Amino acid sequence: MPEPIKMEYDVPGDDFTRAGAASGDVKSVLKKLGLSSEAVRKVAISMYEGEINMVIHGGGGKIYVEITPEAVRMSLVDHGPGIKDISLAMQEGWSTAPESVRNLGFGAGMGLPNMKKYSDHMEIHSVVGEGTTVDMTVQVI
Ligand SMILES: Nc1ncnc2c1ncn2[C@@H]1O[C@H](COP(=O)(O)OP(=O)(O)OP(=O)(O)O)[C@@H](O)[C@H]1O
Ligand SMILES: [Mg+2]
Repeated sequence: MPEPIKMEYDVPGDDFTRAGAASGDVKSVLKKLGLSSEAVRKVAISMYEGEINMVIHGGGGKIYVEITPEAVRMSLVDHGPGIKDISLAMQEGWSTAPESVRNLGFGAGMGLPNMKKYSDHMEIHSVVGEGTTVDMTVQVI
């Protein structure tokens, strides 16, 4: 049983037009490790959406990734404003993104629904005024 591979990323809270560095790096690591293209795609999409959310809505934060032979686990932690109503935020098309962000192609309200769809397990813990943690698991076998 090999040791899990652990990685950590600082996600900056300012320039979301260049965000995606962490999910891009994880994607290339998983490819090198020889994971199936389906598993790589599921991790890349769900983590990218979570990473962008941290930048646009959460003021940046940290992403922790753990890779085992069975699964890829991601924990996305920010100390932003939090999510008041998680079930509302999970609905397709619901977004608080401002006009300026929508004009750049973000803010369709599809990130969280896609994170749920492409991960095998997702949990959101959020406290208004304290921040948000999103845990996601993608099963590898
Ligand atoms: N980390 C977060 N911190 C605070 N609020 C969040 C966070 N992630 C999501 N939200 C809230 O949930 C809403 C829905 O998120 P979702 O990712 O589904 O859509 P979006 O980011 O607005 O648009 P899209 O992802 O399609 O570009 C956001 O508009 C925001 O209000
Ligand atoms: Mg989003």
